[in-house]
Amino acid sequence: MTETILVAVAWPYANAEIHVGNITGSHLPGDIFARYHRLKGDKVLMITGTDSHGTPVTMSADKLGKPVEEVYKSFHEGFIELFQQIGITYDLYTTTHSDNHFKVSQAMFLALQKNGYLYREFSKQWYSPSAGKFLPDRYVEGTCYICGYESARSDQCDRCGNVLEPEKLIKPRATTGDGALELRDTEHFYLDLSKLEPKVKEFLQSRSDHMRDTVLGESLRKIESEGLKARSITRDLDWGIPVPVDEPQWKSKVLYVWFEAVIGYLSAPIEWSQLSGNKEAWREWWINPEAKQYHFIGKDNIFFHTSQWPAELMGAGSAFMEFFAGEQNAPLILPYDVPANQFMNLESQKISGSRNWAVWGRDALTRYDPDAIRYYLTANMPESKDSDWDWAEFVARNNNELVATWGNLANRVLSFCYKHWEGVVPNVDVTTLRPADLELLATIEAGFNTVGAELDAVRLRSALGETMKLATAVNQYLDVNAPWSAVKTDKDGAAKTIYTALKAIDSLKIMFAPFIPFTSERLHGFFGYETPLFGEQYTEDVTDAIGTHKVLRYKPVESLQWKPSDLKPGQKLNQPGPLFKKLETDVIEAERGRLGR
Ligand code: MF3
Ligand code: ZN
Repeated sequence: MTETILVAVAWPYANAEIHVGNITGSHLPGDIFARYHRLKGDKVLMITGTDSHGTPVTMSADKLGKPVEEVYKSFHEGFIELFQQIGITYDLYTTTHSDNHFKVSQAMFLALQKNGYLYREFSKQWYSPSAGKFLPDRYVEGTCYICGYESARSDQCDRCGNVLEPEKLIKPRATTGDGALELRDTEHFYLDLSKLEPKVKEFLQSRSDHMRDTVLGESLRKIESEGLKARSITRDLDWGIPVPVDEPQWKSKVLYVWFEAVIGYLSAPIEWSQLSGNKEAWREWWINPEAKQYHFIGKDNIFFHTSQWPAELMGAGSAFMEFFAGEQNAPLILPYDVPANQFMNLESQKISGSRNWAVWGRDALTRYDPDAIRYYLTANMPESKDSDWDWAEFVARNNNELVATWGNLANRVLSFCYKHWEGVVPNVDVTTLRPADLELLATIEAGFNTVGAELDAVRLRSALGETMKLATAVNQYLDVNAPWSAVKTDKDGAAKTIYTALKAIDSLKIMFAPFIPFTSERLHGFFGYETPLFGEQYTEDVTDAIGTHKVLRYKPVESLQWKPSDLKPGQKLNQPGPLFKKLETDVIEAERGRLGR
């Protein structure tokens, strides 16, 4: 049965480069899952984009002394370059700074307002008379009224860890140097999550047969102990989405970044439809109750995806489509699963961008092949607990698993065949295959079910492990049947062995493809196939009412490849070559030497 699947990945902030922890946390698992479902012939749409608004972005612009628009764009374009190089095949990678996202977010706001889930309230906030504006929490520092720490952020103290009430801060000062501060009243909109709490709980319970306990359990426990509370969804800031209320006091405020970024899961499919020339196509993933939506995110974002986002969707109900498309009775569907990952550390320490304790994606790709990085990140994916990037282990797993177990297997058999059978698959009579040949092929064939079941359940690490085990089984089969020597004494027997091994490798190529697509694609070419396994990535500039933004796109190919190889005797091969590079152990010290400097 063909499934319809939305692969929705967390929107990265436009304030820092992307490191291996981010890649293995969300983008890579999303990509593996999307590629697997595409190979199965399912209808896949994989989207996300740059989370371009909010104080994280304005503050990094301040630090760099550049206009915020320029800063967001330079990160955004760097992300696109990274995803293209490492093969994260977004059908659309866009940004929240687009006219379409503004409109969709505003329609969502209006729908929630219409249904009575928004209210307005005044609160006290620090105001800078010299700058003539309110300063968002992170722009104000002062002395913690709990522990006396002098550089506490107004909303949180980094020494005692307490969440602070900004108005109680002692000796507040603006991090921007904007003179003396005073408390003034400011009005904001609040999303009344408490009204939606029963519905959110019900939603979570309805997903209990498949959500990870690290996600479901944590979310339910948090709701049990703290309850869902109203949250402000506007900010005094000028970088972001205008509040769709026609009164003067809202002109200097925008929608809160956490309220609007999640709405990207809806706006990106809509933008993708417009760019693809079928404006209504997004409904397949959003109105169709059979569609399944998966959110690939890191553990720090769980609350927003299991509670706030479903609450926004349920609160808006059918009213979103009324505002957006003038249509009645078309409720949006809810997430199916939120397979959030834990964190990846680096050499046993927490990754920290500011200390340069990180392996940066684009930088690592200047020294290592994308599949070498993808392989290690999947084998080490922090699915159920935190994991660790360790350079010695990276080198060892590359050399022992990718190169020795899988790469050598493929290269050895293909090269041997190419040499001894004039570049074609041996012309064996397949009805004469021996029991051991048939047994190996049956084992590999069964792998499509076992590996597939792991992938369906988003256990990507174990899916990769199972695939590698099958490669080991093929190596063992070759050790026993030793075609390298048999070719001299029993060429017919050697032909059966090589045919069997080639067929097994041709199947394994598909099972490995979601994880290490670049090498599977090359291997596919060595086998002489002419249509590719996957489509191509390309970029485009989109101009709309608020400016121009670059997007990354994916041109899919028709394919139903997730099935055992039916390699034909006599098929013409292409000249094979090695798939992976062995790494010298001296890279370990070189890489460790780069950290923290
Ligand atoms: N930019 C935020 C982060 O990187 C939020 C990502 S997910 C979103 O943590 F959907 F909320 F945008
Ligand atoms: Zn404190």
